[in-house]
Amino acid sequence: MEKHIKKAYEPHHFREQGHQLIDLLADYLQTVQDNPDSLEAIHWKEPEEMLKNWSLDEEEPRENNWLNFYKKVLDTSVHVHHPKYMGHQISPTAPVAALAGFLGDFLNNGMGVYEMGVTSTTLERIVIKKVAGQMGFGPKAGGFLTSGGTLGNLTALLCARSRMANRNIWQEGGGTQLALMVSEQAHYCVDRAVRIMGWGEGGIIKVPANEQFQMRTELLPELLEKAEAEGRKVIAVVGSACTTSTGSFDDLNAIGRFCKEKGLWFHIDGAHGAAAVFSEKYSSLVSGLEKADSVVMDFHKMLLTPSITTALVFKKEEDTYRTFAQKAQYLWNTEEDREWFNLAKRTFECTKLMLSIKVYSILKVYGTELWDEYVTKVMDTGIRFGQLVEAHPQFELAVLPECNIVCFRHRPVGMMVSEELNEWNENLRQRLLEEGKFYIVKTNLEGNLWLRCTFTNPFTTEADLTSLLAELEA
Ligand SMILES: Cc1ncc(COP(=O)(O)O)c(C=O)c1O
Repeated sequence: MEKHIKKAYEPHHFREQGHQLIDLLADYLQTVQDNPDSLEAIHWKEPEEMLKNWSLDEEEPRENNWLNFYKKVLDTSVHVHHPKYMGHQISPTAPVAALAGFLGDFLNNGMGVYEMGVTSTTLERIVIKKVAGQMGFGPKAGGFLTSGGTLGNLTALLCARSRMANRNIWQEGGGTQLALMVSEQAHYCVDRAVRIMGWGEGGIIKVPANEQFQMRTELLPELLEKAEAEGRKVIAVVGSACTTSTGSFDDLNAIGRFCKEKGLWFHIDGAHGAAAVFSEKYSSLVSGLEKADSVVMDFHKMLLTPSITTALVFKKEEDTYRTFAQKAQYLWNTEEDREWFNLAKRTFECTKLMLSIKVYSILKVYGTELWDEYVTKVMDTGIRFGQLVEAHPQFELAVLPECNIVCFRHRPVGMMVSEELNEWNENLRQRLLEEGKFYIVKTNLEGNLWLRCTFTNPFTTEADLTSLLAELEA
């Protein structure tokens, strides 16, 4: 056997290094729970400095102790398990799901066809049916897991197009100018999906939002009428549950009723907030979700699963077989067969990660009760932080939070000019980032800069919240 190959697959060394890696991560978990202030939430370095550091590392002699590399990665990465991580929408992974992810990476089953992922394909079916049931859909619902909310939204809209357009664009291309309606506050990936589909600027009708940053659904009829008068064929409305910037939930019942009345496809971008279906306390945020034709939900945002794991659920699973009606005979014998188990017929991906085992591991070990507790806890934290900001004389909210996303800013006494306030808060955020104690982000709302927290860590306490405000004030 060739020397390097033999070394790379040496079972004894793998066992030893693997055990040490788990010890390293378990110690990290212990530290962030018992003594978090001994560790930064983010180890911030400018990109050029980071590049220089890692380039130097790469030039050093090779080494056989994998752990040194793992330690360096851990030390220099964002610590999403840290209670003062309050940044972007990403879960602190449940250890059981991270281990399942490792298992999947090791097994590396490709998933495109059933025989290349018999277990993960089967578990994907079970997971999707479970999620569809929780969302309030009936037995005809189905779907699959895919790689991210961006891809999930595009895939849903491609499916909508195949159902609603008045010609077979997949085969023939061209045709009438198609369009969809979506809140001006929606995630940019919806706009991107429209342009990828070739509908251009005219394909996206941005519905103005109210002061809560929710879609003004009362404007839908007149916008539809106007678009039709201009010769555009509107095929869908996309609801946000919730918006990325402010965590605002559109009125899904109103959009659902409108779509039913007008015969339009109703898609929900629930990348962040559809997870509320698992919380007894917060499920009313997504009331009306079951009216949708398709829903995207990211497990990696709000359901403790490693990135990137997205559910794309359809009210009628049969629709999903139309999206990519393309011949790929080398993979399938019978193109027309509706085989739930040959997933690449319906997903964008051919080869895909074994996503289902990460989700299934949580279901198998803790059940949906873990998600209920988790979603409730982090949403409670967001609401509580909103109250603390509101009660503080030197801070203000952009909008009263509905969930675990909170936009706020520091307004020192006497500072009224918005440019000054923007610069002040920009600098505050930068200082915080460089210090590394907390990780929070920023967003732009109607031309103004706001500090933005997403509380995804169930170990974040009220003391952490007050300490963040005190730190910013100081
Ligand atoms: C509402 C919403 N939709 C879609 C996305 C994109 O999801 P992903 O990063 O999984 O592609 C995001 C990401 O922040 C989001 O907040």
